[in-house]
Amino acid sequence: MTKDLSRKNGAPEQEVLKKGNLGDVLRSQGVSRRSFMKFCATTASMMALPPSMIPMIAHALENALRPSVIWLSFQECTGCTESLTRAHTPSVESLIFESISLDYHHTLQAAAGHGAEAAREAAMEVNFGNYLLVVDGSMPLDNPGYSTIAGISNIDMLKEAAKGAAAIIAVGTCATYGGIPRAKPNPTGAVSVNDIITDKPIINVPGCPPIPVVITGVLAHYLTFGSIPELDHIGRPKAFYGQSIHDRCYRRPFYDKGQFAETFDDEGARKGWCLFKLGCRGPTTYNACATTKWNNGTSFPIESGHPCLGCSEPDFWDGGGFYRALSMPTDNLSQTAVYAAAGAAAAGVAIGVMNRSKKNTSNKIHVKTTLEDLKK
Ligand code: SF4
Ligand code: F3S
Repeated sequence: MTKDLSRKNGAPEQEVLKKGNLGDVLRSQGVSRRSFMKFCATTASMMALPPSMIPMIAHALENALRPSVIWLSFQECTGCTESLTRAHTPSVESLIFESISLDYHHTLQAAAGHGAEAAREAAMEVNFGNYLLVVDGSMPLDNPGYSTIAGISNIDMLKEAAKGAAAIIAVGTCATYGGIPRAKPNPTGAVSVNDIITDKPIINVPGCPPIPVVITGVLAHYLTFGSIPELDHIGRPKAFYGQSIHDRCYRRPFYDKGQFAETFDDEGARKGWCLFKLGCRGPTTYNACATTKWNNGTSFPIESGHPCLGCSEPDFWDGGGFYRALSMPTDNLSQTAVYAAAGAAAAGVAIGVMNRSKKNTSNKIHVKTTLEDLKK
């Protein structure tokens, strides 16, 4: 990808803006029909579409013109881009991402300085109104000089690039909700994309970092339907963030039976019991980790023996100690309620519940019911 970008960013304008058919590009990259259809089936499944839609997705993707994508990176750790490029084997997802017309990417491009900025401006001008703007990282509001690119503050560059964007994809928890830069005391006055841009469709793809296949799934949806997917109340695609980690966790039967690991090396941990008492945020975290997993479907944090930290939720870094349980089931219901309230306040579960209570109170009810079940 780096090689390709290097060529693009040093190329004359007409070459930078040359587009092709996505199907042709994938074929030229050696992607088999079988692999491509498998990707389409996975995408349909993740978007909760019936199997009858798979041929439509395949047809739309194959014939899609390569959209121009401009990727801006602001206050971030590069984890979002690392996540996307760390596939150990070439996948259809990564090839689709490589096959879009990625006209500007701070982190991946070899070019720098005036040449790189000229490529960004040329892509923005020719594709005005049609390009996708991808942003990772937050923006410092307290002092724009804290983070600049080519002498342009993050806020100014975002506003300028947003003007001609058809839609914006905010990638990672920093771009979507401020993330770690916004953690208390928020020394730079970090803000998220939707704190600044209010007149464009914004798709939030949070996670620290986000799951690569979710990023490409959002792109696939846009290429297939020409529209942004249905979003939840905090701007996340429902297809990927519609269920909590806890709802789909393979350790859930242990939670329901009250079997918890108490330490990272006790018998419960060795037997794969629930990590709730070790601080797992799965019950209040909405993401696709438990279903799509990471590293080409190999595993996800809980499967590796570590509790979910809630990295796709707003303010996850300020939710209290990561290894403190949200609430503690006990034999005494009134004591359980006390622990639950105290634990929730301390660990930030209230944030998750409040976020959802605007449209859906089922999560709160569900956890409470389960605690009552545990008392039986
Ligand atoms: Fe899985 Fe965590 Fe829920 Fe336990 S609390 S079932 S480990 S998501
Ligand atoms: Fe993040 Fe939890 Fe998934 S910490 S990576 S949302 S399992």
